[in-house]
Amino acid sequence: MLNWREADFTSYTSTVALSAEEEEQRQKEAMQTARKLVAELGGQLGHTPTCCVVTFGCQMNARDSEKILGILMDAGYQESDSEEADFVIYNTCTVRDNANQRVYGRLGHLNSMKKKNPQKRIALCGCMIQEPDVIEKIRTSYRFVDLLFGTHNLYKFPELLCTMLQNDRMVIDVWKATDAIVEDLPVVRKYPFKSGVNIMFGCDNYCTYCIVPYVRGRERSRSSKEILQEVERLAKDGVVEVMLLGQNVNSYGNGIEGEISFPELLKEVEQVEGIRRIRFMTSHPKDLSDELIAVMRDSEKICRHLHLPVQSGSSEVLRKMNRRYTREQYLELVAKLRREIPDLSITTDIIVGFPGETKEDLEQTITLVKEVGYDNAFTFIYSPRTGTPAASYEKTMSDDEISQGFERLLTVVQDKARESVSRLYGRVEEALVEEVNSHDAALVTGRLSNNVLVHFPGDASMIGKFYPVKLTENRGFYYIGEMV
Ligand code: SAH
Ligand code: SF4
Ligand code: F3S
Repeated sequence: MLNWREADFTSYTSTVALSAEEEEQRQKEAMQTARKLVAELGGQLGHTPTCCVVTFGCQMNARDSEKILGILMDAGYQESDSEEADFVIYNTCTVRDNANQRVYGRLGHLNSMKKKNPQKRIALCGCMIQEPDVIEKIRTSYRFVDLLFGTHNLYKFPELLCTMLQNDRMVIDVWKATDAIVEDLPVVRKYPFKSGVNIMFGCDNYCTYCIVPYVRGRERSRSSKEILQEVERLAKDGVVEVMLLGQNVNSYGNGIEGEISFPELLKEVEQVEGIRRIRFMTSHPKDLSDELIAVMRDSEKICRHLHLPVQSGSSEVLRKMNRRYTREQYLELVAKLRREIPDLSITTDIIVGFPGETKEDLEQTITLVKEVGYDNAFTFIYSPRTGTPAASYEKTMSDDEISQGFERLLTVVQDKARESVSRLYGRVEEALVEEVNSHDAALVTGRLSNNVLVHFPGDASMIGKFYPVKLTENRGFYYIGEMV
């Protein structure tokens, strides 16, 4: 392992030198030092140092941010919503280039704040930082950044925090990969009543457009025992809804001898007292088993929502994307799901402008969207990612054709989503209240099992509780309702 204490260089290692237990002990000691350093900093500043964690990207990053915030609070920082805070951490995403550009755009702004508050510290972590080009760019053009770390060494954050607070030079600690899954980091949950739970990390699917396997590493499943213990702890803590997280939850447990499968894991989570709703994300269509469908169908707690990214409606494009299913197989799967779980809401992700995609291929995506009738679809324009196979494929449609096709697709997606969501009109559904409505304080916002939102009269005391709500007014993608 390279010694990052020297700072101002990038360290790449492929293994963890210490055992998980030794590492945990080491980080506990670092936490004690961090508390002293943060208290000293507070003395210099004349107030409790504040921190602000800004999250880009997916649920995985959101969960990591909760761990980062947990460590910072434990060290004595006070959470702030403002990037004026004494310590700002950007937890970055690199799945498409616009995610990266947003980070670069905002960094300049942080620099001007730092000029006014020289004690201010800035850290960047997450998926972007796993890219060597990005590190090089930040080292040379954004020298005011204090700390860079990647996705594989998050659990070392207490130690990195100490190094940063004791150093004026940029601290960089990025690992290419790790097999270690270190448990037991302090966590501050964004919502007291719901929580994400990582069940696996990384991805082995290598869809040809996607950078995730390169920045998140090989697929690794956590042990079901650890997962269940975490869910039990959360339930004791008042959590009623869990979202099991992984890039491809359907392959949970693969390659671990004696480990249970994802449907079996769901059945176990279902047994945990206090948990009333179970969600999961993301399901790869190629691995969605009949067993999973049966478990969902028979479950009282698994939500009536499935995010099932299709990416394209053309079998030829799907082949080039290395998705390992055809249009027909996907449609058969949807038909089976609709048969077994009639009230299931299905959502998806779609990429437009994949190199090799023609106007005819895009037409097929549009007809597929019409056929499936998604409750919602996230549509993206293809963004070439350095190091992925598709980055070297030849572009087939012009930018104009892509943006026109994208707009057409979007209209179809929205029309179909409105149509699909309108089926709920007049029904009484159970809503879990998540927050007071940000536009109208007389309303609260609740989420239905199928992930649709409903706004209805209420107050903050209802947050985290379930209420039966009549869906009285359809506003397209959400409802206005009243408690019954
Ligand atoms: N593991 C999940 C997806 C994670 S990334 C899955 O396989 O479904 C979330 C979404 O970003 C993907 O579903 C895809 O639609 C989109 N995406 C990924 N790489 C992209 C790229 N290079 N350009 C545009 N969209 C991309
Ligand atoms: Fe990316 Fe494909 Fe893995 Fe999803 S399954 S994270 S799209 S490589
Ligand atoms: Fe983005 Fe990393 Fe998630 S690239 S989508 S934050 S896994």
